[in-house]
Formats: sequence, C-alpha cells, structure tokens
Amino acid sequence: MLRLGVNIDHVATLRQARGGREPDPIQAAVLAELGGADSLTIHLREDRRHISDRDLRILRETAGVPLNLELALDTSIIALAIKYKPDQLTFVPERREELTTEGGLDVVGQLDRVREAVARCRDAGLSHISMFIDPNPAQVEASAAVGAVAIELHTGKFAEARGADAVADELKAIQLAGKATIAAGLHLHAGHGLNYQNVGAIATIAHMEELNIGHSIISRAVLVGLDRAVREMKALIRESIREPYL
Ligand code: PXP
Repeated sequence: MLRLGVNIDHVATLRQARGGREPDPIQAAVLAELGGADSLTIHLREDRRHISDRDLRILRETAGVPLNLELALDTSIIALAIKYKPDQLTFVPERREELTTEGGLDVVGQLDRVREAVARCRDAGLSHISMFIDPNPAQVEASAAVGAVAIELHTGKFAEARGADAVADELKAIQLAGKATIAAGLHLHAGHGLNYQNVGAIATIAHMEELNIGHSIISRAVLVGLDRAVREMKALIRESIREPYL
C-alpha cells in the first residue's frame, strides 16, 4: 500500500506569524488523521521557525499514526529525536536562509558525518532512518552505506519542471533513482512539491511506499475551508446582534 504522510509544518508557520496559539498543528494532526493520513511529518528546524519542541512532545504522545521527524545533521536536534523517539527519522539538509528545504542531503559529500549521525540514532534504538536526497544513484548508494533503511527522493525539480521534455527528464531521474533504491534493498519514499496535478506520476512509480506532502494539502485546506469559516463567523455575528452581550 502506498502511504500518505501529511506534513503539517505550514500550520505551525501560520501560528508563528502571530506568535500565538492558533492554528494549532496538534489539532491539524488530528484532522489529518481523520482524513486518512497514514503518517504525520514535521520538520523541527534549528531556528524553530514553525514546529516547536512542544509540538514534537505532544505529537509523540497523541499521534495515532506513525510520526516522521525531519531533521538536519545537528547534534541538539538529534538529541531531541533520541529523547522523543519518533517512529521515523528523515535526515534533510538545512540552511537558515532558505525558504524551504531546497535540495537533497549531500550524503556522498559528508559520508562520515552522516554515518556518525545514523549510528548515534541507531544506538539509541531509532532504526527507521530515511535520507532525503536528490534522485541520484550515487546518493542512494551512499545512503545505504551509512545505514539508512529508506530513501525519500526529492521531487522538487520534477514539480518545478516546465515543458513536457523537462518534466520527462526529471521523472526519468526519479524512476532511475527509485530502481537504485530498490536494488540497494531500501524502502522508497518521495516528496516535495507534490500536488493534486503531479502526484499521479510519482504515485505510480514501482515500489513507491510513501509520499510526504504538505504545501499543496494545507493550501487546499485554506481554500476549501474558507467558505465554511466565513459562514460560521457571519452566523455568530448575526446571533450576537439578536442577543447582545450588554
Ligand atoms: N519531504 C521533505 C523531506 C520535506 O522537507 C518537505 C518540505 O518540508 C516535504 C516532503 C513536503 O514538501 P511540500 O510542502 O512541498 O509538499
């Protein structure tokens, strides 16, 4: 079965815009689960720009589906992962100035550092470890060599490609890296930039097991939920005029 992991970081981004309590990603997680999410994905960034330590702690207690934590090769974030023990870890690159995760993790270029991080997690009993990498067979092999059990192929370039040839080229790269992943005996995941238009091409790749999707789902939720939210506010205003407070 192909699983859908719903990334709820954007709900936390909206909360952080006002620095208050709403919208609460914990409530979003409950609704995502009710909608059929097979897992929940959060990225605890070093700068805590959206998901917070509190979110990780509460989701660890309340999530009814597996929790996938995206994290950088950062010793203090790894320590939190070891403390809260999410069901799956996905190592991602992280740069403070980026808007979102822009490229895959360069496992080839920092083999020892990644191996050390994986070993630290495995020693602490966290064995379901995935690497978010560009669709490149060398990165797949390096990920297998450092002890990852899964690969999440970065679909951002595919999602951004314009024109049939460019889209076909990016899709081909993902298919080839997918084959290398299976040949290396690893689980195959994909994510980034997937939306209601392009998901089909990735969902039908052989042996694909998990798709992690955030932006397009939260964007659609804003639109399909807006009509109801406005109606509810109008109704409340109408009611309060009929029954004034004072
Ligand atoms: N997978 C990984 C590793 C990511 O970093 C992200 C973005 O946080 C996603 C999936 C989801 O990407 P999007 O929000 O574009 O669906």
